[in-house]
Amino acid sequence: MKIEKEFSRFAHEYGHYNLIQEKVTQKLLNEISTKPKKILDLGCGNGSVFKKINWEYKKFTGIDFSQKMLDLHPKAENLHLSLGDFNEDKLFEELVKEEFDHVFSASSLQWASDLDTSLYHISQFNAPISLAIFTSNTFKTLLQTAGIDSPLKSADEVSYFLKQYFKCKIEIVNYELSFDSIEDIFTYIKKSGVSGGRNKLSYKEMKALMKNYPTKTLEFEVLFAFN
Ligand SMILES: C[S@@+](CC[C@H](N)C(=O)[O-])C[C@H]1O[C@@H](n2cnc3c(N)ncnc32)[C@H](O)[C@@H]1O
Repeated sequence: MKIEKEFSRFAHEYGHYNLIQEKVTQKLLNEISTKPKKILDLGCGNGSVFKKINWEYKKFTGIDFSQKMLDLHPKAENLHLSLGDFNEDKLFEELVKEEFDHVFSASSLQWASDLDTSLYHISQFNAPISLAIFTSNTFKTLLQTAGIDSPLKSADEVSYFLKQYFKCKIEIVNYELSFDSIEDIFTYIKKSGVSGGRNKLSYKEMKALMKNYPTKTLEFEVLFAFN
């Protein structure tokens, strides 16, 4: 397991709320040495994988359970966008009838309610994978300060599940994003989608956390799996 660290600065004025996700997708694409023609992207969101594909493909299938995100995805010929939930067997029962020669999932599978089962289904495509999954050291200091457990699985847990179904290279990358103010940090958390809409704190607790949070940085931990 290779561990890397990377630091960035949050450019507030540009509204780069998906700065880390963009870096994550870029890394997934940098690691791929083939030019797959039939591509599946699970949790495709607003198209960060699709936008970075710079080769000719035959069919790109993007799946997301949010119509609002799909509405933001670019549209193109041979691009098929579908509403679908990777927590549901019926999505995979349909998808497995098709053939894919690469499966991407960028910054999405951390929200699988049963990661083991979702990974099993992904393995049934018998296709190379490029997966990036946020893990429990994301927002580590913030969660410690608030005294709450991460809703995310640890890198060890995710690696364990992956190794059951794939022979793959696993890499953990720690990113750090620095901000001008604590307020910017909380705006970022709300708007970036990294928290998956899970907000366990009351207004009062949030105020106390903003007062006590010791740094102006946020940590992210992402597990990459490729084969
Ligand atoms: C942080 S965004 C990442 C989007 C895009 N892949 C990227 O790299 O920018 C997570 C995406 O996963 C989608 N998502 C979360 N849970 C899902 C599920 N169970 N099934 C399908 N999509 C899901 C969300 O709607 C959202 O678009």
